[in-house]
Amino acid sequence: MDFVGSHIISVDQFDREAADRVFAVADRMRPYANRQRITRVLQGAILSNMFFEPSTRTRVSFGSAFNLLGGEVRETSEVKASSLTKGESLYDTARVLSGYSDIIVMRHPESGSVAEFAEASRVPVINGGDGPNEHPSQALLDLYTMRTEMAAQARTLDGMTIALVGDLRYGRAVHSLCKLLCLYDQVKLHLIAPPELSIPEEIEKKLVADGHQVETFIDMAKGISDVDIIYVTRTQEERFPSPEDADRYKGLFRLNQTIYTQNCAPNTVIMHPLPRDSREQAQELDDDLNQNPNLAIFRQTDNGMLVRMALFALVLDVVDEVDNHAQPVTWFTSKRLPDSPPQ
Ligand code: NCD
Repeated sequence: MDFVGSHIISVDQFDREAADRVFAVADRMRPYANRQRITRVLQGAILSNMFFEPSTRTRVSFGSAFNLLGGEVRETSEVKASSLTKGESLYDTARVLSGYSDIIVMRHPESGSVAEFAEASRVPVINGGDGPNEHPSQALLDLYTMRTEMAAQARTLDGMTIALVGDLRYGRAVHSLCKLLCLYDQVKLHLIAPPELSIPEEIEKKLVADGHQVETFIDMAKGISDVDIIYVTRTQEERFPSPEDADRYKGLFRLNQTIYTQNCAPNTVIMHPLPRDSREQAQELDDDLNQNPNLAIFRQTDNGMLVRMALFALVLDVVDEVDNHAQPVTWFTSKRLPDSPPQ
């Protein structure tokens, strides 16, 4: 895959070599993300960070990643604050914004919208999530996290078993993740979801066609025993016909410390793309797991910075320039070092 000047719309664009390239560049971004050094390699470059759907970590981490490389960020975070509400087409918005920026990150509630926008854009566009369809940067950071968590146990991704729990129908993060996992060898997947929220058929078929073993469960306790990683997801209530429809599925699967201790090997890694729904009726990932060293959710979010910096560096072709523009950090900084997976 040639990253330079490319749009990043779908994980279908990646082969294993391309994913490994992102991870290798992400590793090199660590001193900058940890504020041990700063770089101004993207000085003068402008990112338009266009989020037409709610977002905290994807929006802020893409923006901060660009800032950490020395670039400037312009942001729209609500559809109501943009001209899309005045009837402007994605085509026109793309033509206009690409005149103002060097690169665009976009999140939008409709499947396929970011691809349509990218076609009209004169600068590279990165998909920050298009409806229930895809979320490629999330899948890359999830896979990067899985690799580092497994490496700490002297394991690789090939041959590992992952349980995916929750709303697998509407969760774009799991859709992109499953497609990326197809690049690895003999991954076993335990799909744990109510039948109405099972993973789209074409994704399951692809996993099977690529030689992976897929088992479906409706009993979470059975599905999470004997796995290396549990990846929990939130009920994507914004994709349901009504909030009441979504409410029927909240709280069906709750992972807490007691259930973990009863069913899982003690080094089973726990992941979630976040946000976790901590409201009483949901709590798919209980706060009582916060002290569990295998809870990798905040290592995931920290890794998101590295992966997003890597995507910018690759697409804007500055990977080999980053260190040439490095400077020491001049302000007081502490507690920057992220926590590491248990060995
Ligand atoms: C995910 C998303 O937006 O798809 N969040 C994120 O970007 N980390 C998952 C979710 O919202 O449940």
